[in-house]
Amino acid sequence: MTETRDRWSSELGLIAGAIGSAVGLGNLWLFPMLVAQNGGAAFLIPYFFFTITLVWTGLVIEFNTGQIAQQGPAGAYKELGMPFGKIVGLIPGLRPLVVFAFYSSIAGWTIRYIAAPVSNGFWESPGQFFGSVNSGANSAIFAVVATLIIGTIVYFGVKKGIEPATKVMLGLLFALIILLAARGVLLDGSLEGLRYYLIPDFDKLTPTVVLNAMAQAFFTASLAGAPLVVYGSYLSDKADTVTAAITTTFGNATIAILAGFAIFPAALAVGIEPATTGPGLMFISIPQIAQQIPGSSIVVSGFFLAAALAAISTGISIMEVPVDTLRYHTGLSRKKITPLLVGFIVLLAVPTAMSSELFNLLTTVVLYSGPLAALLAPIGLFWAYDGKKTLERINEGPGINLGGWFIYWGKYVYPAGILFAYLWDIFG
Ligand code: TRP
Repeated sequence: MTETRDRWSSELGLIAGAIGSAVGLGNLWLFPMLVAQNGGAAFLIPYFFFTITLVWTGLVIEFNTGQIAQQGPAGAYKELGMPFGKIVGLIPGLRPLVVFAFYSSIAGWTIRYIAAPVSNGFWESPGQFFGSVNSGANSAIFAVVATLIIGTIVYFGVKKGIEPATKVMLGLLFALIILLAARGVLLDGSLEGLRYYLIPDFDKLTPTVVLNAMAQAFFTASLAGAPLVVYGSYLSDKADTVTAAITTTFGNATIAILAGFAIFPAALAVGIEPATTGPGLMFISIPQIAQQIPGSSIVVSGFFLAAALAAISTGISIMEVPVDTLRYHTGLSRKKITPLLVGFIVLLAVPTAMSSELFNLLTTVVLYSGPLAALLAPIGLFWAYDGKKTLERINEGPGINLGGWFIYWGKYVYPAGILFAYLWDIFG
């Protein structure tokens, strides 16, 4: 390989990159939709359970897979001594292409929506307006725009592109989502929505809801043995990956929860039925909240700008994985690979943006296969490499240390926990 490995400018770069990857449309768009489709507040119970057990520990495992191997998923498993590691690595190394295929559509809709307030249709019939944006050529054009923006940042690499872009975008997003959540809660008639969002009906807690909650907890944290492994590999030796994992996990969950506060009170107050609204939920609810705020056009544009930025910083991390994979296998440079990859992705993204069947299919496949893809990292570290050495490497950095329990956690509990949720759904 001709290039040396990219590096974060500091450990904070990893945290910004990881939060930038985690906080995305999975929080703003998918989370409220899944809450609505999975029994409302009941969904939150397994969601939090998985977040405080599997998710943050999974992040520690994935960061360290990358850091110890000094490779993205393409090379990490071979490096850690896994049989057929180079072939196995192609699964997490290329799976993000499928994620990107539908992710670029939603990213494109958010970009289109920045200018939505100037259209009367957006205010008068938000549902119809969404229908025109999310189908046909409109949808395809903006998916391509999103792909080109993301590709440009990836082209410039970690220090000049990914890290500074992500830091700016995150700050803006945090501020705007807090404003909207506060407005949602203070709306007249918000009580019904708050009840829906916060008071669980335990009868709704089925094995399928539990599996969906796990799939979402993994998706929203970007936990799939891919972007976080690559981002971990950009760390030099000593870094506090435990603090980075905890910060990322809880920062990410906070944004999702705030998105729910922004969306549910408003949706129920104006009679939107969240469970049946599907992918339009975020897009249709926001104009309803904004209508009741002075300067509504600016609030709407601001919200979708923040959503677009979240989608872009996430998209960067998704595209970075196949860039790393192709770099590993061909030895070509980032600047040669990125344009080629963007061309290929456009070929996948355009049909996905134009067909809601394909869009739904890919979204479902990605969501359910995520935790399975996340099994590779613990197998690589704790079985192929070595549990004890892994723990030593984790604790080598400054900051929080983990106890000996983590060896058993990584080797048995974490993978078994993932598998259990699937088996329970199949046989439960
Ligand atoms: N975490 C992102 C979100 O919430 C989605 C995501 C980023 C992702 N990278 C991924 C999902 C890799 C699966 C695999 O929007």
